[in-house]
Amino acid sequence: MAGKRMMLDVLKGETVSPPPLWMMRQAGRYLPEYRETRKRAGSFLDLCYDPDLAVEVTLQPIERFGFDASILFSDILVVPNALGREVRFEEGRGPILKPITAAEIAALNGDMFHVNLEPVYETVRRLRAKLPDETTLIGFCGAPWTVATYMIAGHGTPDQGPARLFAYREPEAFGRLLKALADHSAAYLIRQIEAGADVVQIFDSWSGVLDEPSFEAFCVEPVAEIVRQVKAVHPDVPVIGFPKGAGERYRDYRAKTGITGLGLDWTVPLSMARELQRDGAVQGNLDPLRLVAGGKALADGVDSILRTLGSGPLIFNLGHGITPETPVAHVEAMVKMVRSQR
Ligand code: CP3
Repeated sequence: MAGKRMMLDVLKGETVSPPPLWMMRQAGRYLPEYRETRKRAGSFLDLCYDPDLAVEVTLQPIERFGFDASILFSDILVVPNALGREVRFEEGRGPILKPITAAEIAALNGDMFHVNLEPVYETVRRLRAKLPDETTLIGFCGAPWTVATYMIAGHGTPDQGPARLFAYREPEAFGRLLKALADHSAAYLIRQIEAGADVVQIFDSWSGVLDEPSFEAFCVEPVAEIVRQVKAVHPDVPVIGFPKGAGERYRDYRAKTGITGLGLDWTVPLSMARELQRDGAVQGNLDPLRLVAGGKALADGVDSILRTLGSGPLIFNLGHGITPETPVAHVEAMVKMVRSQR
């Protein structure tokens, strides 16, 4: 079926067999050709803001594995960076930001936001022109809560203690930060769609650390706000939400936020995933470490997902990003297993 973007059919609720397939973090350090380009780029952010190189690394996993979808190469932290916050990535330490204060939140300024992100929009335009017609192009942003956790702590933490404490102590400043992030993230996604993205995904990687009212206020509401703003301009463009670690709260996340497709982390039981599939497409949810291990661990994982979810709207993916130590041969094996499903 030349020219058909299967993932879009699945997001409309159709069952496609074998299911469309891509991987979170599919362009990354497990690929020798990525490590090569990354060396030439200098810093990680230089790579994100250089359309020549960003296009090159985005296409690498498509050329190698023929995935059904291609995700723009960038990072969720370009949004705070475009709002004027200092961001850098240190080898082995991950992202480092200047922690934001309540006073700095009040002074956040988005005047240069789209100017700063123009290289990302240029990357999306070039990608849509270069990708095979049948390959879905995915744009993305971080959810306000997850982005805020890095802006407040200044680095990754295991339980997002600094951001949770800030939210309780400075509710007004924190609310203002979430609102600024939701508005700018919506504008960012709209520009990506206008540059050629077919689908957008909102990554809420740290939604699993919050109590119930905080989850509602910090995860559900800001994502619902982004979806409202995007849908007001592009009602037909599907939005995938990925509230990693949301557990039981996966159940009404789609209804409450207005997202189209639901990204499942690997801890979501397949029996529950099957129920969630009644309301629309689900995406996931192979444990990335099964892919590292390969062999029977991988085959069993792929098999149970296909057996349980393959007869409904499914986008096959990992339950989180692929890790750098993953052997390329295991990715090849996974692609074969998924594609040989009937
Ligand atoms: O999926 C893709 O292939 C597209 C690119 C992409 C990256 N980051 C590239 C990247 C996407 C979609 C992201 C999202 C992202 N970034 C998230 C949400 C998803 C998730 O993984 O939970 C988060 C929390 C970030 C922030 C971030 N960026 C962290 C914590 C780190 C360091 C951890 C690590 O893996 O090193 C990054 C760096 C990063 N982003 C790398 C890549 C390929 C590795 C850095 C490098 O190449 O030097």
